[in-house]
Amino acid sequence: EMHMNIAILGLGTVGSGACEAVKSAIDLEVTRILVRRPKPEYADLQTEDIDDILNDPNIDLVAECIGGIHPALEYVLGAMEHGKHVVTANKALVSAHFEELENCARKNGVQFRFTPSAGGGIPWLYNLQRAGRCDTIEEVHGIVNGTCNYILDLMHTKGLDFAEVLRDAQELGYAESDPGADIEGWDTQRKCVISANLAFRTVIPEDSVPVLGIHHILAEDIAFFNENGLTCRLLMNASLQGDAVSAYVEPTLLTSAALESGVGTNYNMVSLTGKNVGPLSFYGQGAGKMPTGTSLVHDIIDIKDGISFSPSASTGPAPSKVDNTKTSHP
Ligand code: HSE
Repeated sequence: EMHMNIAILGLGTVGSGACEAVKSAIDLEVTRILVRRPKPEYADLQTEDIDDILNDPNIDLVAECIGGIHPALEYVLGAMEHGKHVVTANKALVSAHFEELENCARKNGVQFRFTPSAGGGIPWLYNLQRAGRCDTIEEVHGIVNGTCNYILDLMHTKGLDFAEVLRDAQELGYAESDPGADIEGWDTQRKCVISANLAFRTVIPEDSVPVLGIHHILAEDIAFFNENGLTCRLLMNASLQGDAVSAYVEPTLLTSAALESGVGTNYNMVSLTGKNVGPLSFYGQGAGKMPTGTSLVHDIIDIKDGISFSPSASTGPAPSKVDNTKTSHP
């Protein structure tokens, strides 16, 4: 399509970043914004009623930036049933409802894309899907939570304590509204599930992925790691084990030889190993308004330009079992 009209649902960190990034794109126009409380600067564009968007035949695509499961799920399914493409950065939604969302997109002949839901500004999921087209992805791993990375980095480099650094991460717009999702590792678990689903063409349940967060790590622990030349990072890991998948999330001690030990502040680094291509790594800002908003707009432009890597178009057997017993991990 030459020109695309889009509606943005929600004007939080990601929604306002996407609104801003659209201004640098050509042939894209935000024609409607769903808000909870109207803001003067978007006077004529905003509505509080989702039906204004679902029933508007001139809207080609809906960008869901509300977050959480409800009502985001109903709005996204409704948009696809009304023939609109959907993009989202909502990791909670994509992780919990992957199969239903993919099926709904297929049934209605629309595109559903969610690149910024893991890796923030990094085109990680885009490249993961692309990599799988003529290769077998054997494992994925990396740092996918900007808040935890920011906290651990500042504890290591500045000797600050946990609470102090968490407050900064919240003020910078990296942390979730409930920061427990970050520091207890649930946000990383969701991103692990989404990455594993794409990597291994499967659907794994969230609660099959064991999680250890970083909230119990003390300033004394970090001082001890520093004395021993080790850096602590929260890592997601998922790998193919025969016809099953092993996946887990845990704080990990790295030597200076590991690339992840040099990843600071809100940055993420994610890697895949392909049977054919070998290791590939991706590095960039994993959280924040403009990185995440811009990645969302890239998904929109890809849809406009007809670029798609639907996992349903992939061939090969789909492992669906999660088996963490084949590794030494929890
Ligand atoms: N709270 C998330 C993070 C935001 O810190 O990584 C990006 O998903």
